[in-house]
Amino acid sequence: MASVPSLAATVHQRLVDALSAAVPETARGDAAPDPLLRRSDRADFQANGMLALAKRLKGNPRELAAKVTEALPAAGEGEGSGVIEHIEVSGPGFLNITIADEAIVRTLAARAADDRLGVPHAEHPGVTVIDYSQPNVAKEMHVGHLRSTVIGDAITQILEYRGERVIRRHHIGDWGTQFGMLIQHLIEHPHELDHASDAAAGEGGEAAMARLNRLYKASRIRFDSDEEFKARARDRVVELQAGEAETLELWHKIVDESKIYFQDVYRQLDVEIRDEDVVGESAYNDDLQQVVKDLEESGVAVRSEGALCVFFEDVLGPDGEPTPLIVQKSNGGFGYAATDLAAIRDRIGTLHADTLLYVVDARQALHFRMVFETARRAGWLPEGAARQLPFGTVLGKDGKPFKTREGETIRLVDLLDEAVERAAAVVREKSANLGLTEAQIQERATEVGIGAVKYADLSNSLTRDYVFDLDRMVSLNGDTSVYLQYAYARTRSIRRKAGDTAQPVAHPELALAPAERALGLHLDAFGDTLAETAEAYEPHKLAAYLYQLASHFTTFYDQCPVLKAEGGPAQTENRLFLCELTARTLHQGMALMGIRTPAEL
Ligand code: ARG
Repeated sequence: MASVPSLAATVHQRLVDALSAAVPETARGDAAPDPLLRRSDRADFQANGMLALAKRLKGNPRELAAKVTEALPAAGEGEGSGVIEHIEVSGPGFLNITIADEAIVRTLAARAADDRLGVPHAEHPGVTVIDYSQPNVAKEMHVGHLRSTVIGDAITQILEYRGERVIRRHHIGDWGTQFGMLIQHLIEHPHELDHASDAAAGEGGEAAMARLNRLYKASRIRFDSDEEFKARARDRVVELQAGEAETLELWHKIVDESKIYFQDVYRQLDVEIRDEDVVGESAYNDDLQQVVKDLEESGVAVRSEGALCVFFEDVLGPDGEPTPLIVQKSNGGFGYAATDLAAIRDRIGTLHADTLLYVVDARQALHFRMVFETARRAGWLPEGAARQLPFGTVLGKDGKPFKTREGETIRLVDLLDEAVERAAAVVREKSANLGLTEAQIQERATEVGIGAVKYADLSNSLTRDYVFDLDRMVSLNGDTSVYLQYAYARTRSIRRKAGDTAQPVAHPELALAPAERALGLHLDAFGDTLAETAEAYEPHKLAAYLYQLASHFTTFYDQCPVLKAEGGPAQTENRLFLCELTARTLHQGMALMGIRTPAEL
C-alpha cells in the first residue's frame, strides 16, 4: 500500500517552492502564498495566484509569473522532474501548465499498482460518531428516512475509507409517551400483534409493519376517544420508564417487530445496518435524571412554569419572546432534547468521539442548534465538535413535499418497488440482445433501480430540496447512476473482448491523444476528490467527479479505438490499462456511495 501524490499536488508543491525561491520575502510571511492551481481548458492546469500576490507586493503580475517560471527546476533536474512539459505566462499573469504525457501515465501506473488506487489516508484520522438512519418504532419509514440512510451510509463509508474510526448510532424513536398507548392497548387486546389475527398474516417486514399499523391505529382511536383509556395509557408510560417487567416485555415485542420491518427495508435498499449500532432513544433512559440534575445544578437550565428550560438570546418565538429548549416537562417527563443531551455525553465521554455528526432533516436545525449549545455550556461538548448535516426535503413533481394524492406520506417500500420496476423496463430494452433470463433482468433491475434512487439523492448538495422523478432517475442519458453503471459495463465488455486475462500494463513511452490525457488527468484526481468530499461531508462532490469520469470515458471510447488502436499492440494495451483503471475507480467510488456496478448492462 503506497499512496500516490496527485499530479496537481506535485505541481502545486513545485510552484510553492518556485515562489519562495523567486520572492524570498513570501517565504517569511505568515501565510505562504497559494498559487491557486486549477484544472483548466487552456492548458492542463492554470495557476492564478500570481495576481493577488503581485498586488500585495505592489509588483507586476506578469513579471512575477515569469520569475516563478524561471525558478522552476528545469526538466530533468531534481525530484519529480519531467512532470511539467510546458509552462507559459498568459493574460494578466496566469501560468498555463501542461503536464508531460509520460508523467500522466507513470502516475496512473503507480495508482494501478496500489489496492487503494494510491489514495492516502487522512493525515489526522480521529473518531467520529455518526447519527443516521433513525426511523421511528411502530411507524412506516418515509423519504426522509431514505435520505438519512443513504447519505449517512455514504459518508460513513467515505470517512472509513480515509482511515477515520466511525461509530454508527441509529438513534431510533423507540421511547416516549406513544408507547404507553401502544402497550396499554396490547395488554387489553393481547392478540393484536399475533400473526394469526392478521388477514394478510405472514412473515417478513411488510406483514410486521401491517400489524404495527393496525395496533397503532386501533390504540390511537381509543386514546383520542376514551378518557379512561388515556389515563391508563399515561400510567403505562410511568411503568415503562420504571422498567416494570410485563410492560418492558411488550415494549420489546413492539420494537422487535419494527426491527424486522426496518431490516427488510434496509435489505431492499442494499444498506447494511447492524443491530449493535441501533442505539435508540430508550438506551439513554437511565441517564436522564442525571442530565437534568447536572443542568439544573450548574444553572445551565432553569425552572420556568414547572418545566426545566434552557434559554438562548437569539432564539425567539413569533411573539418575540424567548423560546426555550425544554429538557424536562412540568409533569416530570423527558423528551427528545433530554435524550439527545444524554447521547452527547455518552458519545463524547464514553465513546471518546472527536466529532459528532447528525444526518437529520434540515427542519430539525433549531433543535440541534439548541442542544449543541446547551451541551457546550454544560461542558459536555467541545466547541465545534458536533455538527448537523441537515438535508432538504424530497418533493413530488408538483414541487410540494412528496405525498400521495390522499395527502398521506408515501411509503418508502412502495417507492423502491416502483424504482426497480422502472429500471426493469430500461434493462429489458437496453439488453434485449443479451438474451438475459427473467431472473437476471430482475437482479440487474434491482441494482439499477436502487442505485438510481441513491444517486439522485447523493448527487444533489445535501441541503437542496429535490424532486423525486423516477423517469429522470433511471434515464440512460444525463447525470444518473445508470449512466455511470453503463460506462462501467462498457469497460468490462472491452476487457472481455480483449480476451487476455493478464492485467494490461501501462506504456508511458507513448504519446497520448487528447481524450486519453483528459481521462488520465481526471483519474489522477480521485484521491483529491475523496479528501474534499470527506472534509466537507459533501457526497455530491464525489458524485460529480464520477459523472465527469464516466463522461471522459465516453469521449475516450468514442475517439480512441482500443482493440484496433492505430498505434498497434502497445497502444491497445495502454488503452486497456486506462479502461481498467477507469473501471476500478468507478467501482470504488460507486461502492462508497452504496451503488452496485453490474458487469453487464
Ligand atoms: N427519529 C427522528 C425522526 O424520525 C430522527 C432522530 C434524529 N437523531 C437524533 N439524535 N435526534 O425524525
